[in-house]
Amino acid sequence: MFMSAFADNIKVRNVKFEFGNVPKHWILNNPFATHFVNSMHVVFPEGEKFFVRSVRRFEKEVKNQQLKKDIKGFCGQEGIHAREHQRFWEVMSEQGLKPEKFANFLNTYMFKKQYSVEGMIVNSLNWISPRLGDKMALSITTGLEHYTAIIAKAVFEEPILTNKRIAPEMIELMHWHACEEIEHKAVCFDVLKEIDDDYLLRVSGMVIASLLLFGNIGIGTAYFLWNDTDLNMKEVKGQASEVNNSIVFDKIRKEFAENLMSYFKRDFHPNDIEESDIVKQFFSDKSYA
Ligand SMILES: [Fe+2]
Ligand SMILES: [Fe+2]
Repeated sequence: MFMSAFADNIKVRNVKFEFGNVPKHWILNNPFATHFVNSMHVVFPEGEKFFVRSVRRFEKEVKNQQLKKDIKGFCGQEGIHAREHQRFWEVMSEQGLKPEKFANFLNTYMFKKQYSVEGMIVNSLNWISPRLGDKMALSITTGLEHYTAIIAKAVFEEPILTNKRIAPEMIELMHWHACEEIEHKAVCFDVLKEIDDDYLLRVSGMVIASLLLFGNIGIGTAYFLWNDTDLNMKEVKGQASEVNNSIVFDKIRKEFAENLMSYFKRDFHPNDIEESDIVKQFFSDKSYA
């Protein structure tokens, strides 16, 4: 059994961020880049509630006592992440972006009731074989946790790390969330491994996770661009190529692709990707660490 690099230390930090002065296009003054990340302010909180539900279905069955503690830390951290991203909706609402409408749409088709995506996956697979749907929901969560861990690494790369053209409050929110994602990145993976160590279950969860993540972020980006009344159509083309040149830069893209593919190795474990120094460094001067 692998354990988290922070096994004794999944700390729930009840931190509240101030977003008062965040401009509408807070990343590089670029609406494309901003609304791509804005969509995550809705997709993450809704997704994080699903993560917590998925892992709690197995909490009682986990025998490893440290892992049981880690599950509590994981759920606590994800709860605060969801709350803080959701608190930013207030700013987005003032900017006319209507985040609640997108959240309701996402929630209804993804998670609510029997015929939502979650309902269909969990219920239909549980009907085929007892607990298969519950395991698949956990495997999807495990796949998404791998994404958040590798996104976490990327947001500490230059030029994001010290970029003066990204609102500093938002950089801190992203870095805090990223560090806690790194701290708890192995929890769901270890639970899935203890419950059912089947390779096919793990990788099929990752495939579904990828489709859902990019699909929903894509819908969210389009939705917020549509609602953005300050979009200047004459500048749109230049802004789109700026995203391509500045945000999807080569080094991060290559490292991201490499780390993503490592999930498909049979003997992969999240702690194979070394990120603990990032966390120590970030929290070293934070009062809420
Ligand atoms: Fe999170
Ligand atoms: Fe997470």
